[in-house]
Amino acid sequence: MTMLKKLYTGAAVLALSTSAAVAQEVEVLHWWTSGGEAAALNVLREDLAGSGIGWSDMPVAGGGGSDAMTVLRARVTAGDPPTAVQMLGFAIQDWAAEGALANLDALAAEQGWNDVVPAALQAFSTYEGSWVAAPVNVHSTNWVWANTALMEELGIEQPGTWEEFVAAMQAAQDAGYTALAHGGQAWQEATVFDSMVMGVGGPEFYQAAFIDLDPEALGGAQMVEAFDRMTTLRGFVDDNFSGRDWNLASAMVFNGEALFQIMGDWAKGEFVNAGQTAGEEFQCFRVPGTEGTVTFNSDQFAMFNVDDEAEQASQLAMATAVLSPEFQIAFNVVKGSVPARTDIDPASFDACGQLGMAQLAEAGESGGLFGSMAHGHANPPSVQNAMYDVITAHFNGEYDSAVAAEEMVAAVELAQ
Ligand code: GAL
Repeated sequence: MTMLKKLYTGAAVLALSTSAAVAQEVEVLHWWTSGGEAAALNVLREDLAGSGIGWSDMPVAGGGGSDAMTVLRARVTAGDPPTAVQMLGFAIQDWAAEGALANLDALAAEQGWNDVVPAALQAFSTYEGSWVAAPVNVHSTNWVWANTALMEELGIEQPGTWEEFVAAMQAAQDAGYTALAHGGQAWQEATVFDSMVMGVGGPEFYQAAFIDLDPEALGGAQMVEAFDRMTTLRGFVDDNFSGRDWNLASAMVFNGEALFQIMGDWAKGEFVNAGQTAGEEFQCFRVPGTEGTVTFNSDQFAMFNVDDEAEQASQLAMATAVLSPEFQIAFNVVKGSVPARTDIDPASFDACGQLGMAQLAEAGESGGLFGSMAHGHANPPSVQNAMYDVITAHFNGEYDSAVAAEEMVAAVELAQ
């Protein structure tokens, strides 16, 4: 049997899903454990419950999903894969190459996914031309989240350059506030680093360093400058940053303790969950120097090959729910992301959501759309994790910037 086994006809499956839905539940492995993430996840659970499909929750805390992927490997090795798994980019491709993922082509054809899911996502949702995962959203990492009241108190306008960004943080620090809310975890440093690389050298450098893995780019002067910018940011975090979870850093901004956070737009889910409104209590803007680009990651549900026909039917019912226009709105307005479909009316989204949707479309047209290195959309997990190690070691003072650039070359070479 090839990897692409288990082709089923849409009608037969949908009939199955109706008859089996009552008896069936989906076991879902994910890392959506913060307040905002749980609120978004509830939208999906309730949506499935409405179709009579129960939810067996398998949360694995740990931002960015590295811990979740470790647990997944153990489950699959034990021959007991979850029904569906939250997964990012290149990890989907790795699992598909192992023959572990079910074929969703019949459903995709029946529901016209090819026409509404952007090519940048299809590159990860499909393997060898077949659909193996259902995309839920599009997040992006090059965002700054800002406390409006603090900006007004300090007389800070939205910074348009790196120098203005640094000056704003200096003003906040001089006034006794935490300038940059940050959680000292490798994936968070890597999330920030996406923007440092894009900010220093733009799309050409980002492509060469993170996607082409060109040693000249990884070890060159621009990479040293990107690490120097991380050193500058290190001087603006508070003394207790180490190990802090990302959502607690978001809380520092929405509680008025800190001026900025550089984080993916899942952070917006925390501000919204705290009852704040985009453009009122908080502002969102692209990391200065990265304007015109979007470094994206899409959360997808990969459906693992399972033998039980009722479970297969529930996988398809879940994929159907995830791609439905109604769900795409209900979920993404809570999650902080934008829809995985291009045919969704932005009117339901807040100011940051509408900005994100417009910028995603523009970047897609202009060549400014790139997969996030930090969140599995620029290179395989082995390379991504090697980069994580160098970036966090540098942020914690183990290397200076010149050594960090050398280490990037060596670590990536070893990981390939
Ligand atoms: C990303 C994921 C987001 C959010 C974030 C923080 O990788 O795409 O949905 O979970 O990690 O954990």
